[in-house]
Order: sequence, then structure tokens, then C-alpha cells
Amino acid sequence: MSLPVPSSPSSPSSPSSFDVSALRQAEFPWSDETVYLNHASIGPLPERTRLALEAFNRRRAMPFRLPDRDLFGTLTECRRQISQLISASPDEIALTVNTGFGLGVMARALPLRAGDVVLVSDREFPANVYPWLRLRETGVTVELVPTTADGWPDEARLLERLQDARVRAMAVSLVQFSNGYRVDLAALSAATRRTGAWLVVDAIQGVGQVPLDLSRIEVDILACGGQKWLLSPWGSGFVYVRRELIATLSPPVTGWMAFEGTDDFTRLTAYGDTLRADARRFELITLPYQDFAGMSASLGLILELGVERIQAHLQRLHEPVLAWAARTGARVASPVGAHGSGILCLAPDGVVEVFRRLKAARIICSLREGAIRLSPHAYNTVEEMERVAAVLDGEA
Ligand SMILES: Cc1ncc(COP(=O)(O)O)c(C=O)c1O
Repeated sequence: MSLPVPSSPSSPSSPSSFDVSALRQAEFPWSDETVYLNHASIGPLPERTRLALEAFNRRRAMPFRLPDRDLFGTLTECRRQISQLISASPDEIALTVNTGFGLGVMARALPLRAGDVVLVSDREFPANVYPWLRLRETGVTVELVPTTADGWPDEARLLERLQDARVRAMAVSLVQFSNGYRVDLAALSAATRRTGAWLVVDAIQGVGQVPLDLSRIEVDILACGGQKWLLSPWGSGFVYVRRELIATLSPPVTGWMAFEGTDDFTRLTAYGDTLRADARRFELITLPYQDFAGMSASLGLILELGVERIQAHLQRLHEPVLAWAARTGARVASPVGAHGSGILCLAPDGVVEVFRRLKAARIICSLREGAIRLSPHAYNTVEEMERVAAVLDGEA
């Protein structure tokens, strides 16, 4: 399926945009019936991905049609596409089945000891909290750093706490699930480079809608599921491990292909003891190949659209709703500007009632931590957001 990316002739002032109506038609044919603004919960599968899954599963029914080179080739291609998306190297990518698994494995892989402190911003999504809290069993102290009054990560306080020599790691989300706050990753990276603390990022709410260049901003570990902004199947995800760190970390659980030599299926019982030099030492083969075949198709779409263009599009989409909030005085729970993202949260008076009204108008969004969370993606339109503003205004 070819891609509808050329600039829309209807918007000559924004040459970086893509053709939204062609995108809707080709990849989201149902989008004229439902206003779907819930990508921070579940990303829909583009048509190309649905078809890729179907084609893969047709072959899966007859495994002799799926040679090993296709199975492993699918995983190799996913690692390549992911590394392109985040400006990393394929050998720094381990595929995982979700975010939490990546964070859980890496929290245990880091050589944290009794007395060490891990900083976690308070009010993080639990997938980025429980793996750290479990380390308390080993004597590690987990410090939940209070948020600002707005409920956003208090970056100044995080930077201050990093000065404590006992702080060995800091875990934050790139984008907060409940308000869309985007951290200043460059500043957190620079500070952790100075103190030597590991920087661990839960990136599921950011990758696909917020540009990320790990060749310029150094992080140590970054985990991401594919099911939201990457429009990928459940069961697809990855963890990035900075190259220099890989050889120093030992996986707490071991997959049978984590070792050198295990590509040779004629000598599987020649058990070696050399872990792979690349991030696949953290992979737990066998992985759900069909989900990665789907992820590969979705990543193809995201790469063709371009994350910078997606980001610019989402900012434009926010405008009608922000104008409504400014006019009515409704509280906007998300930051706007440098710390903003594609997630826009509103906390108007009678928020639950307003949320019900949106639902009744077939506008799909979420209620999180006392705010209505709108999370549009590349194929949503300004008209849809104007419709949201009208319903917020009381229109049925
Ligand atoms: C910040 C964040 N991390 C992780 C997850 C999900 O984790 P997992 O991929 O392990 O289901 C979510 C949402 O469900 C999230 O918002």
C-alpha cells in the first residue's frame, strides 16, 4: 500500500504536513464514523498492519510456509526500524512484549545495592514504579519525588536530588500518561551524565508522537510498548540499552537465544556461556512473531509520516480545544509549549459529567486522574477537534 505523505495542497502554508484525508482513507477507513482520541490508551491498527497480520497468520496456520529466515528476519527488521525511529543502533535494541517487561528486566539487571537510592517521579504510571519498588526487598531505597502543584514531574527537585551521591538511578516517563507533560530529557541526561546515575525512561507515551534522538541525548535504558502511539499490536515492544552499558549488565532472566552461538540450530546443546554482546542478551525468545510482523508494518507508516510532522500536526489539532478552554476558563491540566505533547488533558467543572457527554457524542477519550485526556494521532482532523469543542460547549 502506498503512503499518503505528500504535502496537502489545501495547506500550502504548512509544507511539512501530510495528506490527512488520504491517510484516513488508506489506513483508518472507519475514522469517519468515530472520533477516536484515545491513542494514549490503545492505538488502532492501520489497514496495512491488519493486512500484514492476516497475511502472516495465514502462513502461520501452515508453519512450513514460514521459514526461520522470515521469522528472524521480521525481528531483525523491527530492531532496524526502531533504531531508525529513535536514532540508536539495532544492536542496542532488545524486543520485548510490553513496556513493563523491559523496565522489570532492566531494573534487576542494573547493579543496584542496599543503600542505593532510585529516584522515581511520583504519579508515574505503575509500570514504571512497581519494578523499582520491588527492589526494596534488596535494600534499595526508592524515593518517589513529589510532583509540582500541577501534578507534573518536578524536574528542578529531581535535579537537586541527583546531587545526593547515594542516588544511582532515576526513572521517569518521557511523557506523563495522565497529563501529557514531556520532560526536558536533554537536561535530565546532562545531569545524570555529570553524577553518573543511570537514566531510565519509560517512553511508551512519547515514541511515535515526540521526536527522540538518542544519538544526541544520551539515556541509559529506554522501554516502550508498541500498542499506543506506535499503532502496533499488543505483544510488541522494545527496550533500548546504551551500547557501553550492555556488556556490563547481566540479564536476570535468560532466554535461550541470549547466548552467542545459538543461531546455529544444529548445535543447540553445545551450551555456551558467552552472553551476546548486543542487547539481544535481554531478549526472551520465542517472541510473538506475528505481533512484530504487525509492528514492522506500523513502524513503516510512522517512519514515512515522520514523527516531527506528526508532532506539528498534533499541536495544530489542540488549537480549537485550547481556544475553548481559554474562552470558558476551563482548567487545562497539560502543559503547553516546551513541556507539551500530543496529549491534552482538561479538568473543567463537572469533569465526570462532561466526560459522559463526550462519550454520548461518540468521542472516544479517557478520564485519568480527574481529567479528560484527549490523545489524537496523525489521522485526526481539526474538524474533529472543533466537534470536541462544540460538545464541550454543550452541543449534543
Ligand atoms: C507511562 C506508561 N507506561 C507503561 C504503560 C503500559 O505498560 P505495558 O506496555 O507494560 O502494558 C502505560 C499505559 O498503559 C503508560 O502510560
